[in-house]
Amino acid sequence: MATRMRLTDIDLLETLSSPEYAEFLEKFQERRFLKKEILYLPNDEKNLVFLVKHGRVRIYLAYEDKEFTLSILSPGDVYSTHTRAFIQAMEDTTILVTDVRNFQKIVINSPVFGLNIVKVLGDLLKSSFTIINSLVFKETYLRLAEFLVQAAEDIGIPVQQGIKLELGLTTEEIALIVGSTRQTVSVFLNDLQKSGILEKVNRRTILIKDLKKLQRIESGF
Ligand code: HEM
Repeated sequence: MATRMRLTDIDLLETLSSPEYAEFLEKFQERRFLKKEILYLPNDEKNLVFLVKHGRVRIYLAYEDKEFTLSILSPGDVYSTHTRAFIQAMEDTTILVTDVRNFQKIVINSPVFGLNIVKVLGDLLKSSFTIINSLVFKETYLRLAEFLVQAAEDIGIPVQQGIKLELGLTTEEIALIVGSTRQTVSVFLNDLQKSGILEKVNRRTILIKDLKKLQRIESGF
C-alpha cells in the first residue's frame, strides 16, 4: 500500500515542526535506541504514540520461536504501544513519543495524521492477510516454496534482478506438482509477489528476487 498508493506526501515531521503545532510538539519527548534494541514490549503499560524521526522500526508478533513481521516503519510513520506487537529498532533510531491523549488532540486538528495512521495500519493489514494465508495453507505454502527453491537450483538463470525460472509450467501444472489447486497456488504466488520475493514475468516464467527469503519459508519460517 505504501509504495503503490501514497495517501499523503506531506511530511509529518515537518508538519509537526510548524508553529501551529508548537504546543503539541512540546508534549513529545525524543528517545533514541540502538540497532536491534526493543523499543516497547507488547501492551506497554504506558499508552503511548510515537513518530519515527530517524531510522527504521520493525513491528512484529512473536510466539515461542516464531516471528511474523507486520510492518517496517520509516521516518514520519506513527505507531502505538497499545498493541500485541513487539517494536524493535532495525538501525539506530530516534522517535518522538507522546501519550495517546495528546496524539488524539493532534489527529482531531490535522487529518494528515489520521491519513498516516491509515497508511501504517493498511500496511499492517496487508501483512496480516499474507500471514493468515500462509498459516491456513501452511503445508502447501512450504511445498511451493520448496518447489521454487529446488527449481532455482536446477534450472535457475542468474540475471541482474535475481534468478529467472523458465519453468514452462502453468499455475495449474505447478498446483499438480505441489498437490494443491490452481486457486491456492495463485494466491501464494501473488502473496510472494507482494512481499517482493518473486515476480511473475509471464504465464510460464518467474523471477525469484529474494532467494534467501524463499529459503527461509522453505525451512519453516
Ligand atoms: C489517537 C490515539 C489512539 C487511540 C485513542 C487509540 C485507541 C485504541 C483502542 C481503544 C484500541 C482497542 C484496545 C483493546 O482492545 O484493548 C486500540 C487498538 C489498536 N490500536 Fe489504537 N489508538 C490510537 C492510536 C493508534 C495508532 C497511532 C496506531 C498505529 C498506527 C494504533 C494501532 C492500534 C492497533 C494495531 C490496535 C490493535 C491492538 C491489538 O489488538 O493487538 N492506535 N486503539
